[in-house]
Amino acid sequence: MSVTDLPKVELHLHIEGAAPPAFIRGLAQEKGVNLTGVFDEQGNYAFTDFWHFLKVYEAATEVLKTPEDFGRLTRAVLEESAANGVIYTEAFLSPDFCGGGDLGAWKEYLHAIEEAARAAEAADGIILKGIVTPVRHFGPEKAKKSALCAAETAGSFITGLGMGGDEKAGKPGDFAYAFDMAREAGLRLTCHAGEWGGPESVRQALDDLRVERIGHGVRAIEDPALVERLAEDGIVLEVCPGSNVALGLYKTWQDHPVERLREAGVKVTVSTDDPPFFHTTMNHEYDRLADTFGWDEGSFAEINLTAARAAFCDEETRAALIKRLEAAND
Ligand code: ADE
Ligand code: ZN
Repeated sequence: MSVTDLPKVELHLHIEGAAPPAFIRGLAQEKGVNLTGVFDEQGNYAFTDFWHFLKVYEAATEVLKTPEDFGRLTRAVLEESAANGVIYTEAFLSPDFCGGGDLGAWKEYLHAIEEAARAAEAADGIILKGIVTPVRHFGPEKAKKSALCAAETAGSFITGLGMGGDEKAGKPGDFAYAFDMAREAGLRLTCHAGEWGGPESVRQALDDLRVERIGHGVRAIEDPALVERLAEDGIVLEVCPGSNVALGLYKTWQDHPVERLREAGVKVTVSTDDPPFFHTTMNHEYDRLADTFGWDEGSFAEINLTAARAAFCDEETRAALIKRLEAAND
């Protein structure tokens, strides 16, 4: 048995960022959208750094116009995830890309996404939950609109709020209103921090937004007191090593701090972020982590249990998930 045969739980996946290039090209052709600058000569997404990546990401997202487009995308993404042994995934869904922050439109997009998720669960047994995602560089006012969409559709499918986007735009505290609204609606909270911002950005997300998980969070390693706090408080990091290496945050897999964080007692999980952009899959992440750090089946089983325990889902789903993971470890 190889580590890639294990059932997997993924907590950090952007739905648009998971769109295969061929899928985006197909839609562009159908709709007559010009995607000059999005792909390289081999047909892969082309970007030079994180900020260019965000621009290319948003340009590619331009072709996703209707609820039906997002339904088709969800189906394609979940098929790929299931092929990688993922049994449960949480996807970042942004009202900014799904109806421009309008609640009525958002509900239509959500309907199409949920229908696709139901079809995927019936076909492959994979479960999807949605985390509403304000985009940080779109600003606090748009974040409030996203949070309102989240609060109004909170339930068994929309279970969390988690901000992404450019960490250098504003401070976490600028978005406290949006996170407070989501918390009051019973949503669970996460936020990208400690990717392009340093340890201080992780502290601010914890203190000012009161999140229970951190997207990435890896730059906490630069501050031992923060590492200790994360371990003591049981804060879960949604670590995406392949994304960090592809975007140049770390030069090599060997340089990535995920093993040092784990050794320090921090709860780490493994996800892909935007897999086709970074030429990765869950299987690829597992292979590279096993090669680089010697992680074995037991290490990955523990990581998947950590992810299942930290998943933004109802307790019935969690119990079923843990049962499936434990059955595979017997
Ligand atoms: N949106 C999509 N991928 C992202 C990342 N790695 N960081 C911040 N925002 C994102
Ligand atoms: Zn992300």
